[in-house]
Amino acid sequence: MSLPNIGGEHVDGLFVPPFPDPHPKKSSLFWRFVRGWNSWIHVLFEKSYTMKMGEIRTPGLHMYIANELPLVKRIMSDWRGFPKHHLLVRTLGPAIGNSVFSANGDDWATQREMINPAFQQAALGRTLPMMRDAADALVERVRRSDLDRPIDVDPLMTHVAADVIFRTLFSSPLSEGDARRIHDAFNRFQRHAQSASMLRFYRMPTLGFFHCSRRAAADIHGVFAHIVQRRLDAYRATGDLGPSDILASLMEARHPKTGAPFSFTDLMGQVSTIFLAGHETSASALSWALYCLAEEAETQRIARDEVLFVAGTRPIQAEMIRRMPIIRNVFRETLRLYPPVAFMPREVSCPTQMRDKQLAPGAMVVVSPWLIQRNPEHWRCPHAFHPARFDDPDAKTKSREAWLPFGAGPRICVGAGFATQEAAVVLATLLRTFTIRAVPGETPEPVSRLTLRPKRGVKLYFSLR
Ligand code: HEM
Repeated sequence: MSLPNIGGEHVDGLFVPPFPDPHPKKSSLFWRFVRGWNSWIHVLFEKSYTMKMGEIRTPGLHMYIANELPLVKRIMSDWRGFPKHHLLVRTLGPAIGNSVFSANGDDWATQREMINPAFQQAALGRTLPMMRDAADALVERVRRSDLDRPIDVDPLMTHVAADVIFRTLFSSPLSEGDARRIHDAFNRFQRHAQSASMLRFYRMPTLGFFHCSRRAAADIHGVFAHIVQRRLDAYRATGDLGPSDILASLMEARHPKTGAPFSFTDLMGQVSTIFLAGHETSASALSWALYCLAEEAETQRIARDEVLFVAGTRPIQAEMIRRMPIIRNVFRETLRLYPPVAFMPREVSCPTQMRDKQLAPGAMVVVSPWLIQRNPEHWRCPHAFHPARFDDPDAKTKSREAWLPFGAGPRICVGAGFATQEAAVVLATLLRTFTIRAVPGETPEPVSRLTLRPKRGVKLYFSLR
């Protein structure tokens, strides 16, 4: 079924990138199923963008959407009262097991404490050269392509983001073949997991979909399980952690009370989480950022001028990134319009009152960066791509809590600093090497499953500067 899209055009001098045309009214149970089968954002209706709180019932689930900022704050800060929903945990299980993204309660708090050191400032500094190497390898791949034809940047951004994670986790680059394997396997995982979730929401059997998602997850694990095993065996045998990377930090981590290290299964869960949460999201954001820059020639020009002024052709350093506010704003604005994690589902753990509604235990309460970040109450011209809005001091205070692409509260993304540094390195490296142009008539279509991705990729022209 073809799904309507609007945007992808300039309106009153501002570029409005594509998004699904909201339905005038809430869909019926049947149409919610049909539309949600492929993408959550295609179920939304006009009022979804402005209502303070919404309610949806399916045969298998009672779901609320909380858009009002004080409610959002309450839900996101209370990690015991509103844990990750068990349906999400079940969906993600084959890919990430019981790890920091899916765990709840004290178990989560312990895991978070154990992985935090891998993402602290000093560790971030060590990742910068690896990000630069991955960005340089990306430039070489683009150079080797036929530049007379449009290039689909979606697999390219998946490759570079997976390469960044691979290098920072394991201190080795990702091969071309493994990058393709991961791109295909994760797309399969998302499709099957989405179908299995929809069927569960409607209290129907998950048919073969859950099983297929398990197979796709096993393909992803196959890319790095042997590396984790080899490094762990060597550490156990000789005490040698190997290169100082994220895996070394995870092997070194100890349970704060028992002093126990992560087992192999635990390590595979954390590594898979970091790998998937860390590359899918960044790849999505980078693809949309390049698309918006390709459509917005003037923003692309000033962003490039900034990079050339601050870094020229020298290796990009952390202090240079701090002096690239335009690049930073482009990334922020992309995350506002296309938050890779568009919905964050939580479970109500005890009877709770929210506005005029009484929520029962087991209900799902969803916080949606997609809706909050496109709400006209918080953002002027909310669907337009306008990076400079982040320079407006008035907007800065007003919208601080209405920008949450990395989540909020104690469970905020552990990799936010990592992703911000990575995006700056990749965007700056590409912009100083290439000019990017959109392909007339080729408007990408966002679809949201576990993450938000362009349905048929993003095709762009690259030319060497
Ligand atoms: C643009 C890139 C990224 C975006 C938009 C993003 C977004 C998010 C969001 C929204 C959450 C919270 C989900 C929730 O509360 O339900 C989250 C959690 C997480 N992210 Fe990211 N992320 C990005 C990059 C990364 C990177 C690069 C890594 C690791 C290298 C990472 C690792 C994690 C982990 C481990 C968690 C779970 C944290 C916890 O529950 O304690 N993310 N991310």
